[in-house]
Amino acid sequence: MIDPITIGIAFTVAQKTVSGIKQAIALGKDINELGGQFARFFENADQVHSASSKLQSGKESLTDGQIRAMSIQTAMQSKALREAEKQLKDILIWTGNKDVWDEMMRERVRMYKERAEEERRRKEIIAKAHAAMVDRVLIGTSVFANEGGFPLDKAPDRVSNNASLQNGAKIFVNYCLNCHSATSMRYNRLRDIGLTDQQIKDNLILTDAKVGDLMTIAMTPKEGKAFFGKTPPDLSVEARARGTDWLYTYFRTFYKDDATQTGWNNLVYPNVGMPHVLWQLQGERAAKFEERKDPHDESRTEKVFVGFEQLTPGTMKPQEYDDNIADLVSFMSWMAEPVQLERKRLGVVVLLFLAIFTLLAWRLNKAYWKDIH
Ligand code: HEC
Repeated sequence: MIDPITIGIAFTVAQKTVSGIKQAIALGKDINELGGQFARFFENADQVHSASSKLQSGKESLTDGQIRAMSIQTAMQSKALREAEKQLKDILIWTGNKDVWDEMMRERVRMYKERAEEERRRKEIIAKAHAAMVDRVLIGTSVFANEGGFPLDKAPDRVSNNASLQNGAKIFVNYCLNCHSATSMRYNRLRDIGLTDQQIKDNLILTDAKVGDLMTIAMTPKEGKAFFGKTPPDLSVEARARGTDWLYTYFRTFYKDDATQTGWNNLVYPNVGMPHVLWQLQGERAAKFEERKDPHDESRTEKVFVGFEQLTPGTMKPQEYDDNIADLVSFMSWMAEPVQLERKRLGVVVLLFLAIFTLLAWRLNKAYWKDIH
């Protein structure tokens, strides 16, 4: 999806970065210290180029005139950035830094490929998650198996709180990453939630993985199926497949059930193949059900959930447990769409700008017409 605000921002950032770089060079700064700025320029420029070529190729379905106008505008922005890039290249060549330029180009191509690969993998996983969901609906288990409609609790949204995300990440790697993978996530992406490579290495990598590696697991899907009857799905985009409210409720409605293979059952995902991996934190609980007559059909009775009974205490108090689950779910939500933070932040900046601008325009308008009657 291409939206004009994101592209507009990428264009502005790229342009600003170019003038920043030019200024720095004019002030005699060492080219080698400007790597970050160049990367920023390339990243944003490439976003504009790619949007432009998508719009030109008609891969984005253009319907009304507004979108067509956007296509023209984006093409012009793309052209302006290519010119700016040519200038930068010339400057580097004149200043005897052609090798630096060539190196940056190689890096850019490498990153571009890596991104495309990551994007492809993300799409594949989403497609798989959807397919799995359809399967489940068709065979009528799960998903809507809480047909009586087990009510979902609202998950607190802490996606813009780094401390929460870090805590969620900790729970995730400690309790989930043994059975589930998250193959569209790299460990070093956790920098985006405020962690350094060293912190990631020391606290969050529990295997011999490197910081740049994907969150894979040793267990194969086949083994998973053999162990649990079902393969634990990849969780990269699970938050998008199920929704955060579902996840938040799911982790808080496990109960002891001797009738299942794992000894655990769940209210939103009846007969789930996954054991309650966080039981030590929450403690063991039983679920109490009551038989009630179906209000629509007197001859039928239905089982209605009426509450939990705490069998053994957990290491956490109930409120504390819910709090940690909120962090875990927020982390999963962030993982399913890591750019959402940036998007939201920029959205706020844009709205603020518009508000201030409107105010200014209004005041100016008043000032201009003050003496004319
Ligand atoms: C011991 C292995 C194991 C661990 C550890 C584990 N899971 Fe699971 N999980 C499974 C299995 C197996 C399934 C498939 C269950 C099924 O479909 O019946 C599953 C299913 C799920 C589902 C439902 C997927 C869907 O949409 O159908 C979610 C969500 C999930 N796990 C999240 C987690 C999270 C988060 C953690 C860490 C707190 C975790 N799991 C830890 C084995 C595990």
